[in-house]
Amino acid sequence: MSSFPKAADFNMAAPTSSVLRAILKGALVLAGIIVLLSMYYRSFPSPRCHPSPKQLTKQDNSQNESVATTPSSSLPGEQQADKPVVLLWFWPESKKFDFQVCKKLNINNCRLTDDRSLYSSAHAVLIFHKAIKDDLSNLPTTPRPAFQRWIWLNMDPPSNTLKIAGIESLFNLTASFREDADIHVRWQLTAKKHMDDNFVLPEKEHLLCWIVNSSDLDTQTGEEYRYYKELIKYIKVDIFDSSSNESSRGENYFRTISSCKFFLSFENSDHKDHITETFNGPLAAGTVPIVLGPLRKNYERFVPSTSFIHVNDFPDPLALAEFLLKLDDDNEAYMKYFDWRHFYNVRRHFTEENHAFALAICQACRHIGITHEFRVVRDLYKWFFI
Ligand SMILES: *[C@@H]1O[C@H](CO)[C@@H](O)[C@H](O)[C@H]1NC(C)=O
Ligand SMILES: *[C@@H]1O[C@H](CO)[C@@H](O)[C@H](O)[C@H]1NC(C)=O
Ligand SMILES: *[C@@H]1O[C@H](CO)[C@@H](O)[C@H](O)[C@H]1NC(C)=O
Ligand SMILES: *[C@@H]1O[C@H](CO)[C@@H](O)[C@H](O)[C@H]1NC(C)=O
Repeated sequence: MSSFPKAADFNMAAPTSSVLRAILKGALVLAGIIVLLSMYYRSFPSPRCHPSPKQLTKQDNSQNESVATTPSSSLPGEQQADKPVVLLWFWPESKKFDFQVCKKLNINNCRLTDDRSLYSSAHAVLIFHKAIKDDLSNLPTTPRPAFQRWIWLNMDPPSNTLKIAGIESLFNLTASFREDADIHVRWQLTAKKHMDDNFVLPEKEHLLCWIVNSSDLDTQTGEEYRYYKELIKYIKVDIFDSSSNESSRGENYFRTISSCKFFLSFENSDHKDHITETFNGPLAAGTVPIVLGPLRKNYERFVPSTSFIHVNDFPDPLALAEFLLKLDDDNEAYMKYFDWRHFYNVRRHFTEENHAFALAICQACRHIGITHEFRVVRDLYKWFFI
């Protein structure tokens, strides 16, 4: 870590005044370490079953980058030149955005670029899986500099990921939904520095809502659609059509969700850790998510157990419907679903279409800016397709 003391800070042969200075410096460094340690212990939703220590250190910086990573002495200009270069090789799905967006996430640890002429000096090359051609002809062809790390970027779950032959051992780092990926691409809660009760429940107009492409309701047969069809026999679900209703897009997205007491956060696949914005939306909007996707235990690795309702908590859709109707009449019980807000912050995810990959790309920037370890992903597919 960059804040580690240099040997010169502890020069024993120095005259008294510089011994004093050394002691002062030592105290400052110690204070820094204490701050880092306390962030280490405070930045996790679930202390009982938190991620591995390797991932904890990464999250230290998500809280407040200026505290965790920026040495106070560095000048802005000098800093920019010092930062590692991260080259985005493909724009994922042609969704271009301004890299300055990362600053909104307090991420400013690298120099992001899409300029391929910087390849030979790039410290990392971010490669979007879906854009790689079968014959690998659109990957960099010049030899990889020894210091350069290639990052595999894939936001999709295994069921939606094509195996492209020949890339299994090309990468040094992974960026995916998986909790054990090197770089996380999920919107996560962060611990508050001080407990508070600032939460005010938004005004509610609807009981239960879902934002979904309404033509899919007739044509699709996935588990989420089957569950929905059963559920509406017992409780009304207000549908906001993602393909035509403006109330479910952009600015209106959070407004719409916040007007609902409950929201269907149904994932379209059941893969470990594949928990998407459809879950972050209601958490950020002040609404209780009803989840269908991976198991409850999996969700609980990322959020407190009392922040959501899982369809598996009930034997069938009827029992869920009855429970929701009961909660609708019991405000005290309903408000318990927001208790976690005393302790955690939740951030609104980007809803702009062209920002779909911005978090992932910014997170890669942060990772490259703060870690320098040598690493090789030996068999990408063996890890990803379990
Ligand atoms: C980060 O720290 C600075 C300085 O203490 C503070 O002004 C800022 O609000 C913090 N940002 C976040 C997101 O906590
Ligand atoms: C909505 O679903 C229809 C039919 O399944 C599809 O043709 C259309 O592209 C979808 N719209 C969006 C915005 O995904
Ligand atoms: C769009 O959302 C509004 C918001 O409440 C709703 O009143 C309207 O019926 C919706 N229209 C469609 C076509 O889904
Ligand atoms: C990155 O991975 C490649 C391919 O496995 C390996 O040859 C190279 O040494 C690794 N470099 C770093 C900096 O980890």
